[in-house]
Amino acid sequence: MCGIVGYVGPQNALDVVLEGLRRLEYRGYDSAGVAVLAEGGQATAKRAGKLANLEKALADSPLPESTIGIGHTRWATHGGPTDRNAHPHLSADGKVAVIHNGIIENFAALRAECETAGVEFASETDTEVTAHLLAATYDATPEGPGRLAEAMRAVSRRLEGAFTLVASHADEPDTLVASRRNSPLVVGVGDGEYFLGSDVAAFIAHTRDARELGQDQVVELDRDRGLTVTDFDGTVVEPTAYTVDWDAAAAEKGGHDWFMLKEIAEQPQAVADTLLGRLGDDGQLVLDEVRLTDQDLRDIDKVFVVSCGTSFHAGLIAKYAIEHWTRIPVEVEVASEFRYRDPVLDRSTLVVVISQSGETMDTLMALRHAKDQKARVLAICNVNGSTIPRESDAVLYTHAGPEIAVASTKSFLAQIVACYLVGLFLAQIRGIKYADEVAAIVEDIRGLPQAVEQVLTQMEPVRELGRSLADADTILFLGRHVGFPVALEGALKLKELAYIHAEGFAAGELKHGPIALIDQGTPVVVVVPSPRSRESVHGKVVSNIQEVRARGARTIVIAEEGDDDVLPYADHVIRVPRTPTLLAPIVTTVPLQVLACEIADTRGYDVDQPRNLAKSVTVE
Ligand code: F6R
Repeated sequence: MCGIVGYVGPQNALDVVLEGLRRLEYRGYDSAGVAVLAEGGQATAKRAGKLANLEKALADSPLPESTIGIGHTRWATHGGPTDRNAHPHLSADGKVAVIHNGIIENFAALRAECETAGVEFASETDTEVTAHLLAATYDATPEGPGRLAEAMRAVSRRLEGAFTLVASHADEPDTLVASRRNSPLVVGVGDGEYFLGSDVAAFIAHTRDARELGQDQVVELDRDRGLTVTDFDGTVVEPTAYTVDWDAAAAEKGGHDWFMLKEIAEQPQAVADTLLGRLGDDGQLVLDEVRLTDQDLRDIDKVFVVSCGTSFHAGLIAKYAIEHWTRIPVEVEVASEFRYRDPVLDRSTLVVVISQSGETMDTLMALRHAKDQKARVLAICNVNGSTIPRESDAVLYTHAGPEIAVASTKSFLAQIVACYLVGLFLAQIRGIKYADEVAAIVEDIRGLPQAVEQVLTQMEPVRELGRSLADADTILFLGRHVGFPVALEGALKLKELAYIHAEGFAAGELKHGPIALIDQGTPVVVVVPSPRSRESVHGKVVSNIQEVRARGARTIVIAEEGDDDVLPYADHVIRVPRTPTLLAPIVTTVPLQVLACEIADTRGYDVDQPRNLAKSVTVE
């Protein structure tokens, strides 16, 4: 959602804050703003649009030099993306500057209270109310060290909803305070300096020494008194310290035009790193970090996979694999629907929540609902220490590294791999009848990084094809079995990046309605299963290609090397290496990512930051 940066130390705060915002811009890019504390109080600048607009405004009218500052990049919730609604927001007396990520659900009542007290609001945001409340509460708090932190605690206790707040006060030129509930915040500790960020990318260029802030905690960063963390009642707590295990280069484009292209290219590594140390030489899986006992895992009689968007598609693939390997029934559901339909859950239900960011509010709420019903929750997550893994009973991290482009690519492949590991691990623990197949598949999984590498070497014709499709109004995607979720993912990528109408269908469903969409020249992308797949699924998909071709479709076929059955009906063939059916999404997804990226680029769109989207969606 929004990106938050704070700095106090010896450096020029504006430089540090703007650099942090550049790295966090993927979180929201409707508007951006900064505030620094200088002689004479708060100095702010804010602009609607991308960070570049703010940078231009600052070049035209520079802010005074300062060594303490905050900055924000916004994904609008309350109030449109205008200069006025951009953060930071100031209190009426101009002394307090606040930035915020999240939604303050009781802001209307609090706003009415402030208005009754005579405050005139300058924006339509829910955030501004916190600036006014902080100023009033600060004035009512006895003087002394920690006064601003005390005011922040008092205000936080009154807020409902989700928030990370960072604030400074003109009367405390050496102090930043921040507060968090249901929204991320990390502290970076440098040599005589402190950083705040929505994630570590904000300060990774300066320090890898991080502190994780817990739920309902306030941190004070003071030039003299150092770092103090308390709960909302003022009890001092020790924050968890950790070292960030990636460097600044991982958050840069490294010669690629787009982060998305870099992240697509990193997929072999993402898959390899997610497997690292988890496949034993003897073919046994080693998942020590899954802190559920063998008995817990044996007792499971039902699995739910709950997630959103691309992570939901990983869940759909998980269903095919986990059910096949373990014979445990698996249901897959979008998180935003899950808890509202009163699903049947108990102690013997395993709920697998999948989230790249670990912050998605829909998924977090589904997780909490599952825990309330006594189900066991296992998180598959890419961001260390984020809220979803912290609140789950167990976690299996994907090691895809930082994903900056808004569209998920490498984290998707890593999620699928993690789902395979969960399925195989359950099969191993339960000693199920597919034991031989499981042992063989473990070997096949070891070959996946190389298979993805091979696909990536063959992408030039896909790019060329993408350029030829840039004017399409509609593109349809078909697949069967695990190819169906891949088709959904291909359509999602195209929609979100290229703003082209795209739909994914189960190929067999086509004749039940969607085939009416096919017109002369309509591009149809078909994900073809291996000719070795069970139940002659391959033959059925080849028939589906014929059906759409007969109705005028331009057919784009993703098929295994050596599968010549598709040739008579394919206008374009994209080859992928031979891969066992259940593992095929790892290779068949890649050309669809490249296709969407190329089409969007040809249409002149910002591939990394598509309109209306944000990397992590921390509202329901
Ligand atoms: C699409 C995309 C989104 C996310 C979804 C869930 O490319 O990135 O659909 O997959 O918002 O996000 P996480 O995985 O962070 O919970």
